[in-house]
Amino acid sequence: MSSAEILRRLDQLRVNDLPTHGGRTLAYVYDSGIADADAIGKQALAMYASTNGLDPTAFPSLLAMEKDLVAFARPLFNAGDQVVGTVTSGGTESILLAVQGARDAQPGVADPVMIVPTTIHAAFNKAAHYFGVERISVDVDPVTKRADPAAMTAAMDQYSDRVVLVAASAPSYAHGVIDPIGAIAAETLRRGLRFHVDACIGGWVLPWAERLGRTIDPWDFRVPGISSISADLHKYAYTPKGVSLLLHATPELRKSQYFASADWPGYTMLNATTQSTKSGGPLAAAWAVVNLIGDDGYLNLVRTTLDGTAALVTGIEAQEHVDLVTRPDSSLVTLSTDESCDVFTISDEMLTRGWFVQPQMSYRQMPASLHLTVCAATAPAVPEFLVALAESIEAAVAAGPIVIDEELRAAAVAIDPTTLDDEAFDGLLALAGLGSDTGEVTVPERMAPVNALLDIAPPALREALLIAFLDRLSR
Ligand SMILES: Cc1ncc(COP(=O)(O)O)c(C=O)c1O
Repeated sequence: MSSAEILRRLDQLRVNDLPTHGGRTLAYVYDSGIADADAIGKQALAMYASTNGLDPTAFPSLLAMEKDLVAFARPLFNAGDQVVGTVTSGGTESILLAVQGARDAQPGVADPVMIVPTTIHAAFNKAAHYFGVERISVDVDPVTKRADPAAMTAAMDQYSDRVVLVAASAPSYAHGVIDPIGAIAAETLRRGLRFHVDACIGGWVLPWAERLGRTIDPWDFRVPGISSISADLHKYAYTPKGVSLLLHATPELRKSQYFASADWPGYTMLNATTQSTKSGGPLAAAWAVVNLIGDDGYLNLVRTTLDGTAALVTGIEAQEHVDLVTRPDSSLVTLSTDESCDVFTISDEMLTRGWFVQPQMSYRQMPASLHLTVCAATAPAVPEFLVALAESIEAAVAAGPIVIDEELRAAAVAIDPTTLDDEAFDGLLALAGLGSDTGEVTVPERMAPVNALLDIAPPALREALLIAFLDRLSR
């Protein structure tokens, strides 16, 4: 193909993708609305795309940019002189490394566990799965959805010798609330336990929110007892995808994160992250965007974002049939519906009006909900969003709640996914509206009926079904 044709094809390929810019996609993407920031980020990404972070002595520019980003973050998180940082590929990788590092620093613990609130990001579940660290999920306060420090403390005591890590969120993804970091840290400090604060989504918002006079309980290195913090740049720092920061309170705490292998005939592999060859592109892009936007720029972006969030909250509170699940501490809003309509129908209806809002399935006592990540570019569009939301609620009420057959509900609870073979999965996917008996799968235009069915499936069945779906989708 010629370059011109390739560009044409690439444009065609993405016609069904969600828009990354314009503020109408309220999950997955972040738009600052600053055209220069996008332009410089892309330029830097391209300039450094072929560099390799595998060996920082071969590409000292990458090491310099990494140190610069950590230096920029240091005052934001009230980091002392001892704090060290690593640039990773994203929030999940930062969290994987925090868990792996905690486990490997304590090799004497035979059956390691981590104590986390139920609302902690699923990246911790992935880390548990990868590294054989059992996840002990502690129920959160049923009203505020914040971690319950007394219950977390009780779990620390119950599992005492086995605990290699405690973690909490600032804020949580699903509900946008900040866990009581100070109260938890006091207990981890007393017991000498590692404590990771997941500020992947809040790390580039909360420091400026506080400066703008918002009341934010301390959650960063000011709090004694925090051993590490993750903060993603590819979220609210508005950099291209592929960049997060993992900060450790001391070099000693980071040590176990490193991997070296001289036990083969090639170069000595020496890595600070899970990747070995690693493009310098995302790092350079982040360096460029952070330096272009700068401290004042982020202050303005956070002001815009929080004002937009407040307007959104007020608008949602004024609508019938929907409610905030809890009051947001930052820029993430979660809403649920009353029994007259279905959240998943609202999300379908919003999509037909050009807005993506993210369905969240019910979990334990928490109802199914819609997640809205507000970014700076969303703020000016909030009035339009609220009109679309009102129309979508009306349409969802007119459609009525999705009723699931009681027999189906009972069957879903009884199914043990580990006993199912491929054929059974094909049948279940067809039943869920995601495929046909022949094993071919499709993404339906309206997801509400599928989501409603998935919602009644216990998490293990839902996971197995969606893995079967993805497997078939990508064949
Ligand atoms: C609180 C929190 N932690 C971790 C992650 C995972 O980040 P990533 O998707 O970059 O791997 C997210 C993503 O939204 C998040 O909100």
